[in-house]
Amino acid sequence: MAPIRNSQVIFNEIPKGLPEPGKTTIFNDKNTIDPETVPLDGSFLVKVLVLSADPYMRGKMRPVEVPSYTPAYLPGKAIYGYGVGKVVKSDHSGFSKGDYVTSVMMDHAEYWVPSKDDFSTIKKFTPEPGLPLSVYLGAAGMPGRTAYIAWSMYAHAKKGQVCFVSAGAGPVGAFVIQLAKRDGMKVIASAGSDEKLRQCKEFGADVVFNYKTQSTEEVLAKEGPIDVYWDNVGGATLDAAFGNAALHARFIICGFITQYNSQEATPYKNIAHILFKRIIVSGFLVFDHEAEWEDKFYAEIPKLLASGQLKYSEDRSKGLEKSGEALLEVQVGKNVGKKIIVVADDD
Ligand SMILES: NC(=O)c1ccc[n+]([C@@H]2O[C@H](COP(=O)([O-])OP(=O)(O)OC[C@H]3O[C@@H](n4cnc5c(N)ncnc54)[C@H](OP(=O)(O)O)[C@@H]3O)[C@@H](O)[C@H]2O)c1
Repeated sequence: MAPIRNSQVIFNEIPKGLPEPGKTTIFNDKNTIDPETVPLDGSFLVKVLVLSADPYMRGKMRPVEVPSYTPAYLPGKAIYGYGVGKVVKSDHSGFSKGDYVTSVMMDHAEYWVPSKDDFSTIKKFTPEPGLPLSVYLGAAGMPGRTAYIAWSMYAHAKKGQVCFVSAGAGPVGAFVIQLAKRDGMKVIASAGSDEKLRQCKEFGADVVFNYKTQSTEEVLAKEGPIDVYWDNVGGATLDAAFGNAALHARFIICGFITQYNSQEATPYKNIAHILFKRIIVSGFLVFDHEAEWEDKFYAEIPKLLASGQLKYSEDRSKGLEKSGEALLEVQVGKNVGKKIIVVADDD
């Protein structure tokens, strides 16, 4: 067989602020692979089907020597993240042609040969009938696990109490809204556009507001005090939540997107309420708890999603060349639903 195209998205330059498609990442469609002769050496060849654009990927665009909870991307190499693909050829006894796999280490490329170091991150799975593969990157994937695990561990939800969720229309926020409603809470959700607010309502939120055009302070003062704050954003929104917390509130710190592209620190004028209200603030990283919760999550959640008992929404871009743009979209809020890059059809 002659070599075939294996386009890649290459990490080219550390962004100064927001990622710049074509500059910080470059689409290279000149790369090729020969599926007949590619050395597998105990690994396998995966056809990449769908990839995820996640906010945390911006944090990997940093100097290699700067430590963080996830390694930095290497300049000149393909970027990688959560993806779903299909095994097309295998030299590994645990994986066969036709297997569906998902991993956090999947290259933004058309084909991927995992290294031995990647094996522990790869999960083989049987898709739930009726559930698109892309959902295994959203509500049935890492964002869903994030919401499910941290809510189970830290929300201590009580019927009739008030929950506030920021970035409510994203895959994490949408899942949290539904968990909070399932537990009988009143849910306030914020997002950055009318379309997103409409989605938050569909997911079950009782009160929705656009944090760009309405005062978070005023909404929380009117609709709170809040017993659980699910924080996807940090910054002034978190400060407003501190100021409007109920006694013994639980704050789940999940994301800090206000600072992913900026060095400017927020002046937290309400932080003393942690003491005054005896707020329990829990920082959460999904990687710390996945092993313990994974089986329970996969046994329960894909079925609920396939049956429509749990809702999700997606924002799809078609073509690997859209990867750089997709990464920017989640940073600036252009995505409406879980941002997916469709790389190839599952044929
Ligand atoms: N701790 C963990 O283990 C873990 C795991 C997964 C995700 N996360 C974090 O959880 C958060 C949500 O993730 P997701 O996948 O559901 O993302 P997402 O909602 O699909 O995308 C991020 C959203 O953040 C909002 N945003 C961007 N800049 C903002 C700003 N300056 N102020 C307020 N909102 C802003 C945008 O929506 P608007 O249009 O509404 O502004 C954007 O669509 C992210 O911060 C992510 O890093 C953490």
